[in-house]
Amino acid sequence: NRYCIIMAGGVGTRFWPLSRQNKPKQFLDIMGTGKSFLRHTFERFAPLVPDENFIVVTNRRYKELIRNILPEIRKEQILCEPIGRNTAPAIAYAAYWLRKHDPEAQMIVTPADHWVVDEEGFRSIIGECLDFVTGHDALMTVGIRPTRPETGYGYIQASADETICPVKSFTEKPNLELAQTFVQCGEFFWNSGIFVWKVRDIVRAFAQYLPEHHALFSSVEAAFGTPQEDEAVERVFSCSHPISIDYGVMEKAGNVYVRSNADVGWSDVGTWGSLYQLSRKDRYANAKPAEGCYAYDTRNCIISLPAGKVAVVSGLKEYIVVDTEDVLMICPRGEEQNIKKYIDEVKFNK
Ligand code: GDD
Ligand code: MG
Repeated sequence: NRYCIIMAGGVGTRFWPLSRQNKPKQFLDIMGTGKSFLRHTFERFAPLVPDENFIVVTNRRYKELIRNILPEIRKEQILCEPIGRNTAPAIAYAAYWLRKHDPEAQMIVTPADHWVVDEEGFRSIIGECLDFVTGHDALMTVGIRPTRPETGYGYIQASADETICPVKSFTEKPNLELAQTFVQCGEFFWNSGIFVWKVRDIVRAFAQYLPEHHALFSSVEAAFGTPQEDEAVERVFSCSHPISIDYGVMEKAGNVYVRSNADVGWSDVGTWGSLYQLSRKDRYANAKPAEGCYAYDTRNCIISLPAGKVAVVSGLKEYIVVDTEDVLMICPRGEEQNIKKYIDEVKFNK
């Protein structure tokens, strides 16, 4: 049986002040489609996986929010972390939970907050990955042809010029110099952060490369699905050291494969800048000006307003303007990497 694990525990700070601790990016309709990223993610995989085989791993504070967005799934399908320990523990929770319920399971692991233009094409790629892991003990990654030396991504080096092939190297978040070399070389792909494998194989990888996590999650496996689950999980998460699956497993494992060049219009919509790139623009290159926005002599801006709010902007070039009920941010597009600093100083992230 196949399962889709949706990782929905991130905090989405780069979309502040729209994205807040109580309602981060994955639960928001940032694309302006009328649906949240989480809803889109569920619908993207729903033709491949029955409703009862979705598992959402998240912080427990988001449980009710998720139940409202995904009424199709039962509360048992939401695995709640007491504290975020990054993606390796989140994935371990789902993997060891599944090992107990369905040891032969195949799992698709996906972030809750990515965007895909060609969903049909994307599903057929995931289908290829599922077929491949049926016959191979492989940890499958989905590789995207890089278009810039982005340092926030993982880089996958393919060992051959074939659609599915073993990975020669996996480098998480290289420095700029290395990223530039990778992009020029032609053998490298961005890691989309979407993975396909059998439960058996990822558990084996945890045992080998993250033995402490393996010991912790194995020790509470018996409690999964029982009234003791919360208490056991509380203990495991407080003891787990935080690490991402990319550093913890993908950089080290010898059986990583890539389905390369998934040309489906993938984006992780990581920043206001990438949202700007994806958005439809008006004739002054402003991204989807909000309903109540009156812009004069304004170019290359992205302006987000709450429903019902009216704003007049004049003479603004290359700015991000985000108004919310309680916070207004006005920031040059080139300085959006400072948003994390603003949050720390403003201390207004509820
Ligand atoms: N449940 C849970 N718990 N989910 C989490 C946690 C956690 O503690 N931490 C992060 N996530 C979720 C985020 O919400 C996001 O959807 C996904 O896991 C990936 O985490 P990010 O924090 O966004 O990772 P990243 O962007 O730095 O890097 C990853 O994604 C890139 C592509 O977008 C890596 O896999 C890179 O290699 C990859 O290129
Ligand atoms: Mg990310």
